[in-house]
Amino acid sequence: MHPHLLSVDSLTRDSVDRLMHVAARMEPIASRRQVTRVLEGAVLGNLFFEASTRTRVSFNAAFCRLGGSVCDTTGFTFSSMAKGESLYDTSRVMSGYCDAIVMRHPDQGSVAEFAAATHVPVINGGDGPGEHPSQALLDFYTIDKEFNRLGKHLGNAHVLLTGDLKYGRTVHSLFKLLSLYDPMRFTLVAPPGLEMPAALIELVASRGHRVEERSSLADDYTDVDVIYTTRIQKERFTAEMSEGFSLSRDFTVDRTFLDRRCARDTIVMHPLPRDSRPDANDLDVDLNGDSRLAIFRQTDNGIPVRMAIFATLLQVDDLIEKDLRPVRWFVPPRVGIDDPQL
Ligand code: NCD
Repeated sequence: MHPHLLSVDSLTRDSVDRLMHVAARMEPIASRRQVTRVLEGAVLGNLFFEASTRTRVSFNAAFCRLGGSVCDTTGFTFSSMAKGESLYDTSRVMSGYCDAIVMRHPDQGSVAEFAAATHVPVINGGDGPGEHPSQALLDFYTIDKEFNRLGKHLGNAHVLLTGDLKYGRTVHSLFKLLSLYDPMRFTLVAPPGLEMPAALIELVASRGHRVEERSSLADDYTDVDVIYTTRIQKERFTAEMSEGFSLSRDFTVDRTFLDRRCARDTIVMHPLPRDSRPDANDLDVDLNGDSRLAIFRQTDNGIPVRMAIFATLLQVDDLIEKDLRPVRWFVPPRVGIDDPQL
């Protein structure tokens, strides 16, 4: 793997497969049956200049579960960037303190600029509307696990990506990552003005995949294997776009849509957060507790995948099994109150 993880562009099918294999070996630690200290003494710098819950906390938890410690800063207000410090200076300073750095920033390309100033491994935790490679890896890991459970194969799979495909960095990274694999079918459904960038569609189509665009979910999707829905990224809208924008119910993934228009084994994913405000028309809460809703299995998978990323970048992946000990504290058999038993 490349010394940094900035974009899916640096990944190959082989490097993704290797990471998936390492992530699977992290499962006993991620599910709190075993502990390891392979990263004892190592320090992670978690720099989040944009809102985040799961990416920031799961990178933090993943590093801690490998035995490391985390230092973090959130928002511009409490960092020296508020005093006009450059990405170059911040990068050089943080590199003297930390053994790995995760950064999220509102500007596309900023994490790459930060990484260019350091030899310490840097992971892009989201750069504006650009990319979110670790999310794509955990999404891929989730699809692979769900397909194994359902007896499906990735080749020929039909994946529907919907929501804000223009500004949604998770779909940019996932679309590219899936395109490294055998030919698949993609259906892209976005509201007007929020379509997938043409360059990405061309890239994926040039790799032999079938890509089709539609303008609403009001259609039959009985052969779709994965529905990947996303939040409308209003914070990235221009003032002109924001004015009067509201997402029509035609883009809502809910129980009725799934029951009427999809196959019984279609899985529903979302990078989260879902916008649960009444007029958001994002992924509906009426699917909570439904086994087709994979969103919390997806967030849980963030831990082994992010552990695998750290173990690979810091070159301790071969030491994991030698260092395992059983967990000594109480761990509930299931973490969610309405998680379906699969
Ligand atoms: C997403 C993000 O920040 O790109 N969330 C995440 O990291 N899981 C999606 C979003 O904000 O809508």
